[in-house]
Amino acid sequence: MSSIVITGGAGFVGSHAAKVAAEAGHQVTVLDSLELGHRAAVPPAAKFIEVDLLDIAALTAALEASRPEIVMHFSAYSQVGESVQDPVKYYRNNVGGTANLLAVANALSIGSFIFSSTAATYGIPEGVLDETHPTNPINPYGFSKLCAERMLRDNAFSTGMRVISFRYFNVAGAAPDGSIGEDHSPETHLIPRAINAALGRGQPLQIFGDDYNTPDGTCIRDYIHAQDLARAHLIGAEKLAAVTPNHGRGYFDLMNIGTGSGHSVMEVVSAVREVTGLDVPFSVTERRPGDPPTLVANADKIQRELSWRPKFPDIRDSVRHAFGWMRGHPNGFGDRAK
Ligand code: UFG
Repeated sequence: MSSIVITGGAGFVGSHAAKVAAEAGHQVTVLDSLELGHRAAVPPAAKFIEVDLLDIAALTAALEASRPEIVMHFSAYSQVGESVQDPVKYYRNNVGGTANLLAVANALSIGSFIFSSTAATYGIPEGVLDETHPTNPINPYGFSKLCAERMLRDNAFSTGMRVISFRYFNVAGAAPDGSIGEDHSPETHLIPRAINAALGRGQPLQIFGDDYNTPDGTCIRDYIHAQDLARAHLIGAEKLAAVTPNHGRGYFDLMNIGTGSGHSVMEVVSAVREVTGLDVPFSVTERRPGDPPTLVANADKIQRELSWRPKFPDIRDSVRHAFGWMRGHPNGFGDRAK
C-alpha cells in the first residue's frame, strides 16, 4: 500500500484515478479547489482537502499532513478554446500551480510524480504519433502542459525525482459501477454531448465540420476509457517505485495513453445510437477552430514498458458507461446549475 496524493481528484479523470487507487487499497488524499471538481466525486475511502494550488501556504500544509510517496497531478484547466481567449489563466494555473506543487514536493522530498499531460502538446500530427513526434502545440492549453512537462523533467534531473508524464488522448466513459462520471459545466466533449442529444436534453448535436480529409469527412480521435487511464497511473506508480535513479539524477519518461485506434465523429454518433437505442439528432456546422483532422495515439510504448492494455478498447463500452451515468444523474453530481 502506498500513500498517494491526487490533485484534481474531484474532477472527471482524477476522480477515476482516486477510485481505482482507493479500491486497490492505497491510502489516497485528494486535493481539489472544487472550482471545477465535485466533492461527491471523491471516493468515500479517500481523505479530502480543499485547496487551491496557487495558495502555497495551504498547499504546503496539505502535503505536510499527507506526506505521500507519490503525487498524481491532474488538476488543470483543459479547454482549448478558453485557453485562446484567456492564456494567462492557463499559464498561471497549469504552469504556476505545477511549479508550486513541485516546490512543495521538493521541500518534502517526495520521490515520485505522475503528470497528466495531453496529446495537445503535439500540435498538428504528421505521421506516426509516438512520443518522439515533435511538440508544436497550436494553443495555449497545449503549451501550458508542455511547459509543465519541461519543468518536471528539469526538476527530476536536478533533484532525483522520478517522473512519468502521461499524454492523454480523448478520455471518455464513466465508472462501470455507475458511481462517477463526467460532469462539466459547460460540457464541450463529443460523447456526453451526443448522449445529451439522444436523451433530448438541450439542442441537437452539432458536428463541427464534415469536410476534413478523413474517410467520412469528420474528425477522428482516439477515445480512451477513464478507468483504463486510471489503471495506467497505478501501474506507472509501481514502475516509479522500482526505478533506481541514475546516480541520483532522477528519472523522467513520457508515454501516450490511448487505444491506438481512432473513431470519427460520425462513428461516435453511430455508437451512441447503437448503445442507447435512441436517435441522435444532429446538424453539421462549421469547423471548430484548432481541431486537427486526426489524433490517434501510437500506444506501443506504454504497452511495452508498463504491460498495460485497455480493458475497454471498444468505444461502445465507453458510451455504455457514460450513458448509464448520465441517464441516472440528469443533474450530474447535483452541485451546479445546469
Ligand atoms: N465535436 C463535435 N461536436 C461537439 C463536440 C465535439 O463535432 O459538440 C468534435 C470535435 O470537433 C472533435 C471531436 O468531436 O473533432 C472530439 O472533440 P472533444 O471536444 O470531445 O475533444 P477534443 O479532441 O477537442 O479534445 C480532447 C480534450 C483535450 C485534449 C484532446 C487530446 O478535451 O484537452 O482531447 O486528444 F487535448
